[in-house]
Order: sequence, then C-alpha cells, then structure tokens
Amino acid sequence: MENTKKKNGFAGGIGFILAAAGSAVGLGNLWSFPYKTSQNGGAAFVFVYIFSVIVMGSIVMIAEIYLGRRAQANPVTAYKKAHKNLGWLGLFAIIIPFLIICYYSILGGYTVKYALNSFGDNVSILKPFSANIGEVILYTAIFMALALVVVMGGVQNGIEKASKVLMPILFIILVGIVIYCLCLGTGVSEGLNYYLNPDFSALGFKGVLAAMGQAFYSLSLGMGIMVSYGSYTGKKIKVGSSAMYIAIFDTLVALLAGLAIFPAIYHYQAETGIILKDNGIMLLFASLPTVFNTLGVIGKIVSFLFFGMVVIAALTSVISLLEVVTQFIIQKFSVARKKAIFIVAAITFLISVPIGISLGYALNGKNAMTLCGQNLLDFFDLVSNTVLMPVCALGSCVALGWFAFGSRSVKQNFSSNYLYGRLEDDGLKLGKFGIIFAFMVKYVSPLLIAVIEVFGVIDIIFPTVGGSRSFSANGLGIVLTAYAILFIAIAVYFIFLKNKYTGCNEDEHKLALAGGADEPDDELAPIEPDIKIPPKNKQ
Ligand code: PHE
Repeated sequence: MENTKKKNGFAGGIGFILAAAGSAVGLGNLWSFPYKTSQNGGAAFVFVYIFSVIVMGSIVMIAEIYLGRRAQANPVTAYKKAHKNLGWLGLFAIIIPFLIICYYSILGGYTVKYALNSFGDNVSILKPFSANIGEVILYTAIFMALALVVVMGGVQNGIEKASKVLMPILFIILVGIVIYCLCLGTGVSEGLNYYLNPDFSALGFKGVLAAMGQAFYSLSLGMGIMVSYGSYTGKKIKVGSSAMYIAIFDTLVALLAGLAIFPAIYHYQAETGIILKDNGIMLLFASLPTVFNTLGVIGKIVSFLFFGMVVIAALTSVISLLEVVTQFIIQKFSVARKKAIFIVAAITFLISVPIGISLGYALNGKNAMTLCGQNLLDFFDLVSNTVLMPVCALGSCVALGWFAFGSRSVKQNFSSNYLYGRLEDDGLKLGKFGIIFAFMVKYVSPLLIAVIEVFGVIDIIFPTVGGSRSFSANGLGIVLTAYAILFIAIAVYFIFLKNKYTGCNEDEHKLALAGGADEPDDELAPIEPDIKIPPKNKQ
C-alpha cells in the first residue's frame, strides 16, 4: 500500500497544497474577483468574501479532501463510500468539471494568444481574434495540449511537479506586477479607492450572495476536484492546515490581482481621460491591453508577464478539471492514463469548438448560436457554476455530515459531538476546531449553500430588469437544463453504477503493472480491493 501510494499519489504535503492551490487560483481570482469586488462595495465585499471562505469554503474543502482521502478513489467511489445511495454525487462531480473544461479552455486559448502576442499589438484584437475561429481553435488546442501533457505524466510526476514550478512563478510575477502598478503615480490612489473603499450600501443582499458564490467557485469546490486530489494524499498530510493554506493562498492572489488591475486602469484614465470598461471579458482582453500599450517597452514586458501568469493560472485549473474526469475513466473502465486523457481531451475539445464560435459571435455583437438567449460560454457557465456546483457542494456536506458515519440512533445522528468523535477516530484531526467543524458541516454550511442555490436559481429565472424582477423563459430553460443534467446523473448512477465496482486509485497502479486489464468483477466498491487483476495484453 505504502509503495502504491508513492507511485500513485502526491509525494508530499507541499506538492498537494500547491496542486490544490493551482486548481483554486484561476481566472476567478485574476479576473472575476477584482471586478466583482469593485462593483459590490469594495472592502465590504472583501469582508463578506473572507467570511464565506472561513465559515463555508474551508468547511466544504476539508469535507471534500477528507472524503477523497478516506476512499483513496475517484469521486464516484468516494461518495459511494459515504453512502451507497449518494454515489450519484460523484458522477455529478465528474460531469461538472467536464462541462467546465469545454468553455474554460476557450478562455485559456485566448490567454495564450494574448501572452504570445504581447510584443505585437493586443489592443484591438479581441473582435477579430474571437471571430477568427481557426485561430481560436489553434490556441485552444495549444492550451489543451499543455494541460494534457501534464496530466499524462500522472499525479506525482505530472501535476505535482508542474504545480511546484508554476505556482511560485505565478506568485512572483503577480507580486512584481502589483509593485509596478502601485508605482505608476497618477490615478493609483483613485484606483485603490475604487477597488477597496468599503461601501456597505453597494453590497446589499445581492453582493453577499455574489461573494458567497465566488468563494465556492474560486476554491474549486463542488466539482470533485478536492475529492480527487484529496484521494491522492495519505494520512500524513494534515487536511485542516492544508485547506487553510490553500484558502489563504487563493484569497491572497485574488486580492493582489485587484491591487494590480485597478491602479493600472485608473492610471490610464487619469493620463488620457478615456474611461475603460472594467467588467466581464472586456477587462481582461480589451482594457488591460490598452493600458499596457501606453506604457512603452516596459508595458510590453508587463503584458507578457501578466498574460503568462494568467495562462499559468488557467492551466493549473484545467489540469485539475481534466484529472477528475481522467481519474474516473482510468478506474472505472480500466483504461491506461494516456488513453483516458486523450479521450477526455478530444471530446471536450470538440465540444469547445461551437462554444468558441458562439463566443466570437457574441463579442462581435451578433446574436447567433445562442442557447436560452445566452452565448454558449455564458450558458455553460450559468448551468455549471450557478445551478449545479452548489448542489454538489451541499452534497459533500450532507454526505460527510450525515451519512459517512451514520448510526442507528437518532440522537447520535443529530449530534455533532458524535460526528466529531468519529472523525477524530478516523484520523481527521482538527484540534480545537474539530467540534466546530462537525457542527458547521452538519448544519451551517448546508443551509448557507442551500440559500446560494435558491437565490442563484431565482436570479436566473426572475432576473432584475430595469429595477424590478420579471420572469424569463430563457432563464427557466437554463435552470431546467441544469436540473435535467442532475436527473440524468442520478438515473445513470442508480441504473449502471450503484451495484457495480467503480474503481479506486490502486487500480491505476495495478493496471500499469499489468499493462492494461479487464474490469474487475462486479461488486460494491471495495476500498482496497484484493482482487488479482489478471495481466492482459495491451488492447
Ligand atoms: N477556481 C478556479 C478559478 O478561480 C476556477 C475553476 C473552476 C477551477 C473550475 C477549476 C475548476 O478560476
């Protein structure tokens, strides 16, 4: 077992933390966090965000890492181990990353283009580039290929090694750019003021929900990632403090990104009198290039470093998404890693093509190739992040809080003390925090997440138009699509997976030794199966 773990999992705690942080730090930190902060009351938003990370994000993260570690297996087996009827959550936690890869890699392709084109002219390429589908596909393919190579190397030799190199680079670049932007002179203090000036009236209930949702997305929760990465850790790694470091790193990067972006934008505005758009895709791909362009040669270097950093952030996120799906395919279908990752990458790449085309139309003001009134990228984003992700995160809390240590007695089932004791016995040592964790994961976090889900859905079906809410049939379509996916995941699980063996991490190792193998006999997921897998020639 020890031996297998070495071959199959993270070699050390730092490697695990950096890989998980690599997943967490993504476009959400470098782009959505800063603009959401500026629009929702600055420091007031940051305050709620940090609060959500502490009371909800870290709780769900610990729960998910622990569920994975305990099962040493892919999410389906991991949730199934919590309760046989909850394995569908795992399937769900594989479908969500699958959907996200399809659009995230398009944006990844954009960032590669902007990084490589930094010494050329990035200022007004957004429209022509996005409309040139050949080019978009090319850069998406480059981006995907980079992620594929890393995942192909496996957890220890691919993901862990890459994260250990890439994450420090990202951080150093970020700090350098922040220092540079803070020293720009004119406009810097206005930018900081715009970004962080606390304004609780601008926050409102909507801002609170946005902060809570952002915390989830940013920490990569509710999509199997932490379960999957957690499954590659052994008992030596401290779940609690790892989660804390991941959350701190993630939050720090998000805060720092704003300290670079807003001073830069306000500096430009102060110098030229031209107001730049600072929300959505325009911030990253139109406004910032405009700013960099006025800073001479240094601006070109800053642009290269900045977009290089965004590429790294997006890449390590897509790597984690790919790993979740790949891990399941390897283990459930006894396919070698190389083959599995090629299958996943090929399918997601094909699906990403129409998404790229649709985004190109949207950015050029054409209303074509939309679904429920949204371009495909926004459609996928709403389906997976707003509707599906909270369901899965809620499931993680319920699975751990109520089912993983279910007991016959009602009293014990409702007692967070009992859960605390069982978790301690099982090696989840959280010290003084343990009892609080047990209470939070059982009661508080699920409730808060349910609120996020309900209001997220209401916001889609009854969007606010001109100050008042009105029904949107398109919104209803989006929500129904999402719940249809949920329903399909549940059905597929109960029909095809519940009573079948769904694999575990050790299978990959055995598979590698055997050079490909048949699926083991059907039986309920043995966590450390002692089935001898017969060697078989490579298919
Ligand atoms: N956490 C990432 C971010 O902040 C987003 C992400 C989403 C990463 C899904 C992986 C999977 O951008």
